Amino acid sequence: MTTASPKLRIQEVALHYDDGQTRALDGVSLEVAPGEFVAIVGPSGSGKSSLLNVIGTLEQPTAGQVYLDGKAYSEIRDASLFRRENIGFVFQSFNLIPTLTALENVVVPTVGGSGRVAAHRSRAQALLAQLGLGARMGHLPGKLSGGERQRVAIARALINNPRMILADEPTGSLDSANAEQVLDILKGVIKQQGLAMIMVTHDAKVSAHADRIIHMRDGRIEQEGGT
Ligand SMILES: Nc1ncnc2c1ncn2[C@@H]1O[C@H](COP(=O)(O)OP(=O)(O)OP(=O)(O)O)[C@@H](O)[C@H]1O
Ligand SMILES: [Mg+2]
Repeated sequence: MTTASPKLRIQEVALHYDDGQTRALDGVSLEVAPGEFVAIVGPSGSGKSSLLNVIGTLEQPTAGQVYLDGKAYSEIRDASLFRRENIGFVFQSFNLIPTLTALENVVVPTVGGSGRVAAHRSRAQALLAQLGLGARMGHLPGKLSGGERQRVAIARALINNPRMILADEPTGSLDSANAEQVLDILKGVIKQQGLAMIMVTHDAKVSAHADRIIHMRDGRIEQEGGT
């Protein structure tokens, strides 16, 4: 279901390091609607990961404000709880725990939260089956292909029903066929569930799938374009 108000609203966010010597973000404003896929592109050091880190509550902005579903980040008391309930992260390097099976990896973000373990396990099984990994649940990450690992990571990102997906080069380690499959999965999920998705990518074939492309340079949004 869509609402009139945007899901994610970023207002004049700055992120400075070293007493302002480094301006990783320098006045970024952006709104992302429910079900919208925004790609972020730009040169190395332009602030793409910094922006994801602020949106993901991994970094606190030096100035400005972020709202998710109307809630201001400055009012968040427990950032790790907020992340667990609202945000699914997907990384280039998958970041799976090598000693845990695919199924156990998917369940990890539920640990310490509410709900029964059996319920989390069966939801994880359903997600893995949905992503074509029904026969791979008991495998360690080392026994999975890159594309399979990233699908496990996507299931892990979705296990707690997030409001938003943040992805930093999620297809950067995949060949083009697997990249295409991972993109199709992510797009399908966010459209179906009305999640916002913000994806950093260097790959023009990937950003071409986005609803909107944001170009960053020197900590600022340079121009908007895309389809
Ligand atoms: N913890 C930190 N301390 C100091 N400076 C930082 C820190 N993290 C990032 N920076 C700096 O902030 C700027 C933006 O970095 P960021 O990682 O956001 O770039 P990026 O666009 O993601 O680059 P890449 O494409 O290489 O991943 C860079 O100049 C970087 O050196
Ligand atoms: Mg980066």
